[in-house]
Amino acid sequence: MTEFQPFEMERLMSRWETTVDFNLSESGVHPMTLGELLDVGGRTVDELLDLALDYPVVNGKRELREAIAGMYPEATADDVLVTVGAAEANYLVVQTLLEPGDEAAILLPNYMQVWGAAKNRGVRIRECHLVEERDWAPDLDELADAVGPSTKLVAVCNPNNPTGRILTRVEMDAIVAAAERVGAWILADEVYAGAEREGDEVTPSFHGLYDRVIAVGSTSKAYGLPGLRIGWAVGPPDTLDELWARHEYTTISTSALSQELATLALSSEVRPRILARTRDYIRSGFSVFEDWVASHRDILRFVPPQAAAIAFTRYDVDVSSTELVDRLREERSVLVVPGDHFGIDRCLRISFAVPVDTLAAGLERIHEGLVSFTR
Ligand SMILES: Cc1ncc(COP(=O)(O)O)c(C=O)c1O
Repeated sequence: MTEFQPFEMERLMSRWETTVDFNLSESGVHPMTLGELLDVGGRTVDELLDLALDYPVVNGKRELREAIAGMYPEATADDVLVTVGAAEANYLVVQTLLEPGDEAAILLPNYMQVWGAAKNRGVRIRECHLVEERDWAPDLDELADAVGPSTKLVAVCNPNNPTGRILTRVEMDAIVAAAERVGAWILADEVYAGAEREGDEVTPSFHGLYDRVIAVGSTSKAYGLPGLRIGWAVGPPDTLDELWARHEYTTISTSALSQELATLALSSEVRPRILARTRDYIRSGFSVFEDWVASHRDILRFVPPQAAAIAFTRYDVDVSSTELVDRLREERSVLVVPGDHFGIDRCLRISFAVPVDTLAAGLERIHEGLVSFTR
């Protein structure tokens, strides 16, 4: 048996995120409160009191699946499985579509869940890359070479975590063509769709571009509702049925209350209001972040993210990202994610869609920490 690959970033966050003064390690926007959600949705707490805390519909109640299907071209409720976050959906895809010894092509850097879960499943991973010098555009030649007759799955994260890069339509078509050439599945983790920084067009899904696509989403990032733990997989019903069979072994279902609240959040009236809130956080935080980088141009630079609430930031100081993050946490009580967790040292992933006062103070501490290494 191969050695277990822990999920390094999630371990770091589970251990430390509640212990620091400034948590800038999250990748979604500042979370909504229950009161805020009910307010935006025009509902009251009293209206929830009759909700039966029974087992909910195991694959997700129809109204919720319909709301999710409405976000994808030509999808219906039968094309949707509701899961405990995108995390469960990604995991179910790896467990269902990949066997030990299979090959998967993974576009890196990314959230690293699919990479780690596939490794733990005994899958051979062919890595292909987004290229920093090309503003994090994918190396499509490398991708085409990585996808061969033994490839069972091509995994992408779009918009990308940690770079915030959105694939162009031409790049998406090239990825589809590579997968289609060998009949591989595409796992498209699209949790940041709706969290665009520039423009109000929601990032288009891979769903509908090819019949072997599983598109994954959740309420965690673009909706600021990670605590609901509601995610989904969208794909062909017979394949979803196989994912569902594993869902019964892992979680059975999401919670009844979460399904109720997610149905409200994703309804056609409420969803645009939540996305507007998300974009406000992203845009106001980004402007503070951009000014901060500009005023420390001697040691900091980044490619502005097109979406997501994070900036993958390169620093020019002689310390590894893992050591830097440890010292920032221990000495300055601020938590960010080291580039090492994405296989790219001398970078930090910093979240910026938090209240601007918190952000400015947290960034100041990061700068103090960086400068302490230059003395
Ligand atoms: C790209 C990506 N996919 C999935 C997840 C897990 O999200 P969820 O909270 O929906 O399980 C995350 C969380 O950071 C993520 O960044």
